[in-house]
Amino acid sequence: MRFFDLIEARHSVRDFKEQEVEEEKLQRILRAANTAPTAGNLQAFKIVVVRSAEKKKLLAEAALGQMFISIAPVVLVFVADIKRSAGRYSDRGRSLYAVQDATIACAYAQLAAQEEGLGCVWVGAFDEKAVAKAVRAGEGMKPIAILPLGYAAETPFPTKRRKMEDCFVREEF
Ligand SMILES: Cc1cc2nc3c(=O)[nH]c(=O)nc-3n(C[C@H](O)[C@H](O)[C@H](O)COP(=O)(O)O)c2cc1C
Repeated sequence: MRFFDLIEARHSVRDFKEQEVEEEKLQRILRAANTAPTAGNLQAFKIVVVRSAEKKKLLAEAALGQMFISIAPVVLVFVADIKRSAGRYSDRGRSLYAVQDATIACAYAQLAAQEEGLGCVWVGAFDEKAVAKAVRAGEGMKPIAILPLGYAAETPFPTKRRKMEDCFVREEF
């Protein structure tokens, strides 16, 4: 799809068919995430690919009971590699760049999923420690986003956006 059509067509999907996600599609999504720009090209993130029912349930519970996570065929967990970024950029790497690296990678994955005809939703409301435990993310690894994805079992409705003039200022506040 053309880029501007793709971003207009994307809406969050929170109900999924049982139909599996083809491995080739998943690989293209992961490759897209891997093309994201990162601070110093350090790629200070890891993506955990979760397919097991047991682990998906743990993630759904960690995400304050958002059980749609457990019905998605694939769940990606984006984790910031704080140590990796802090190693070069100290505080800025620790507090900002690693988080941004993982965030941008997730945004790329979300758009790639749309291109592949899959639905997904960014899940940010979760207990960070519980998610880290579920995916065995060690010290210095900070879960940033959970992205359940699969074939949509619902027609998502378009959400409204603030008016352009409310979001943008020219030159200064
Ligand atoms: C940082 C962030 C956190 C979010 N957390 C959740 C969440 O925990 N659960 C959920 O259902 N949706 C979550 N969303 C999805 C938003 O609700 C959704 O993107 C927004 O309402 C706009 O709708 P759209 O994605 O259909 O354009 C989150 C999105 C972002 C970017």
